[in-house]
Amino acid sequence: MKLRYFSHSSFQITTDAGHTLLIDPFLDDNPTCTVASDDVAADFIVLTHAHGDHVGDAFKIAERTGALFICVNELANYCIDKGFKAHNMHIGGSYQFDFGRIKFTIAHHGSMTPDNTYGGEPAGVILTIDGKSVYHTGDTGLFYDMKLIGEMTPIDYMLLPIGDNFTMGITDAVKAVQLTNPQCAIPMHYNTFPVIEADPEKFKQQVEATGKKAIVMNFGQEITL
Ligand code: NI
Ligand code: MN
Repeated sequence: MKLRYFSHSSFQITTDAGHTLLIDPFLDDNPTCTVASDDVAADFIVLTHAHGDHVGDAFKIAERTGALFICVNELANYCIDKGFKAHNMHIGGSYQFDFGRIKFTIAHHGSMTPDNTYGGEPAGVILTIDGKSVYHTGDTGLFYDMKLIGEMTPIDYMLLPIGDNFTMGITDAVKAVQLTNPQCAIPMHYNTFPVIEADPEKFKQQVEATGKKAIVMNFGQEITL
């Protein structure tokens, strides 16, 4: 599979079979993203929670592509109410899709939609695709159950916030990597706005000092997992 990082918490996964998934596609109003929402493909859109910097351009993209939303029940119903297709899930549950498996995990955060509708509990997602597991934590503070998450599903790539203020900062994120024990950590949710400025190289160095691997993806970069 291929993993493309737009910036913030926005990623695109292209599977070996050619399915495309977007996670939290915040592109057009994202000052660090150089890709326009009109230019991205999507068969599926995974939302971790309902905040504007995660729902982003999801509806605009779904209107054009007919993508299926995958999110927790309350947010999925919100999408359905807006006329979109959704697969309702919830925390602790997993489901086998054509492209692979998704499991929803807890995240400690909030989840109100931009028009002030309750979006259900915020979540993280574990995607198991083409024999690899990718854990996108969503927006969250540090929590000890990350240890359990990593024990139940050995994680190949952990995508986690380091920007502080709304989520974990670097110190807590390094601890999160130690608890979850992935093969590789990739920082996200930083440098989009002044309030979440953080140095991803500092995160990488601190993760490496614990004997783990980290990759800092450039905004717009695509890598093969
Ligand atoms: Ni948020
Ligand atoms: Mn956020």
